[in-house]
Amino acid sequence: MERGCCVFAGLLVFLGLWALSAADPVKFMDCGSKSGNLTMVDITACPSLPCQLHKGKTYGVNVTFISLTTSKTSKAVVHGILSGIPLPFHLPNDDGCKSGIQCPIRVGQKYNYINSLEIKEEYPSVKLVVKWQLQDDKDRDIFCWEIPIEISS
Ligand SMILES: *[C@@H]1O[C@H](CO)[C@@H](O)[C@H](O)[C@H]1NC(C)=O
Ligand SMILES: *[C@@H]1O[C@H](CO)[C@@H](O)[C@H](O)[C@H]1NC(C)=O
Repeated sequence: MERGCCVFAGLLVFLGLWALSAADPVKFMDCGSKSGNLTMVDITACPSLPCQLHKGKTYGVNVTFISLTTSKTSKAVVHGILSGIPLPFHLPNDDGCKSGIQCPIRVGQKYNYINSLEIKEEYPSVKLVVKWQLQDDKDRDIFCWEIPIEISS
């Protein structure tokens, strides 16, 4: 009886630690990374999904991937998917080579793509899915991930 209690308590502590360490990198859906191996998506201050993003704030995005291709260029394409409909999102800087990636991109090399997502005051308070692609010079996805977010004031 007593033993059972302590094993149970130990399990709770273990689960608690696990939750803490799993809090930072975001659980993403890979939507078809072809010419890269996507390993991590990190969004500042998103401990659980959907990411709670507040108007007037800017969130850091840090994507870790290993390239499976060589490419001179890389271009980010971002959509907000609202009720299943993808709406293009204008990114002020869509050049991956100016977002922490040293170009040309080489095969087998690990990169961190660094950008930010500004939630403007005029955005509606909605839940949506962010789809973020980085394309190589043949328009193939080096990475593609989707993460649900919720915008509020
Ligand atoms: C992607 O990375 C994971 C973890 O490093 C590895 O196990 C897997 O084999 C890699 N996939 C490819 C296609 O390189
Ligand atoms: C991005 O993530 C990598 C891996 O965790 C880390 O080493 C790097 O410092 C991060 N870069 C920024 C700008 O946060």
